[in-house]
Amino acid sequence: MADFEPAALEVLPHAVYEFIAGGAGDEITNRDNEAAFNRIKLRQRVLRDVTRLDTAITLFGQRLPHPIILAPIAYQRLAHPEGEVAAARGAGVAGAVFIVGTTATAPIEDCLAESQSPVWFLLYWQSDRSFNGELVSRMAALGAKAISVTVDLPTPGDRRRQFRAGFKMPDSIATPYFKDRNTGVLNVGTAQKRAMPTWADIAWLRSLTTLPLILKGILDPDDAEQASGTGADAIVVSNHGSRNVDTLPAAIDALPAIAERVAGRIPIVLDGGVRRGTDVLKAIALGATAVMIGRPYVYALATAGAEGVAHCVNLLRRDFEMAMALTGRARIGEIDRSVIW
Ligand SMILES: Cc1cc2nc3c(=O)[nH]c(=O)nc-3n(C[C@H](O)[C@H](O)[C@H](O)COP(=O)(O)O)c2cc1C
Repeated sequence: MADFEPAALEVLPHAVYEFIAGGAGDEITNRDNEAAFNRIKLRQRVLRDVTRLDTAITLFGQRLPHPIILAPIAYQRLAHPEGEVAAARGAGVAGAVFIVGTTATAPIEDCLAESQSPVWFLLYWQSDRSFNGELVSRMAALGAKAISVTVDLPTPGDRRRQFRAGFKMPDSIATPYFKDRNTGVLNVGTAQKRAMPTWADIAWLRSLTTLPLILKGILDPDDAEQASGTGADAIVVSNHGSRNVDTLPAAIDALPAIAERVAGRIPIVLDGGVRRGTDVLKAIALGATAVMIGRPYVYALATAGAEGVAHCVNLLRRDFEMAMALTGRARIGEIDRSVIW
């Protein structure tokens, strides 16, 4: 997985690479997201039958062949001319859920049409409340299988690397848009202003849609509990790839206390620093149902488009299967805290 980054470095403009790679502040949490996984050691068990490995999970009643999801990443046409459409296609080939965002730079309906796997919609809350409802209904009509709301970004973080590199959104892809069946192109960027939802907005959105509702960006057990109480169907334990505020805990370090509080009431997805099969194993062992990857698949997209994305997911899946076999766990259900040393 790590090899995609230097490969992408060769093809991406420097400022775009900095935009993707960078974290907030001094990047202490950015480094720790990966380092924290490295600190966790595994317990191996031997002489178990691991000839048949099963990585399948069930999420919201949907059976998924493996627990690897592609995190929502803004502005993917920065990385590849086809952007989100190529990512969706690659995800589909590799059996991964793709989360297409409000900040997509390719038509969302094309992403939904291109993927053979479920596509979820990531809502960045917009200033007009009813417009959020409209967007969600439209995504449901297009076939999105779940709605995720980013809850951890009331204001953009201090991302110094992209600032120093002089990153500027090229005019050609500055504005995210949705292509509507009836009305043509709806330009979200000019019609709306991004705003921050509150718990009351989440409760309102909950009452509006029957699709599974996922709150992305939870790091505190109290917030996790409130999410469950507000009717969320899942949470994503995430520090937003460390792009918001520095010195937050690594995502994997925040997971155990949240899993303990949630106590299985709703599934937990984890992202931030997942780079190896053993990371996937550790996340599941500590209470996650699934993981999301961010930067690695964008580097793969930059390097080789849809094929790169599929290859990235397949590599991680194979690495995860190897980790399962070598720790003596044949099925996801056998991965619990006893895998941790
Ligand atoms: C370039 C970039 C753009 C991102 N855009 C979004 C976004 O639009 N919405 C969102 O909720 N998270 C966004 N994220 C965060 C990811 O969804 C995810 O939480 C994070 O990348 C996971 O960490 P990883 O990159 O270490 O795998 C973005 C991350 C990156 C690197």
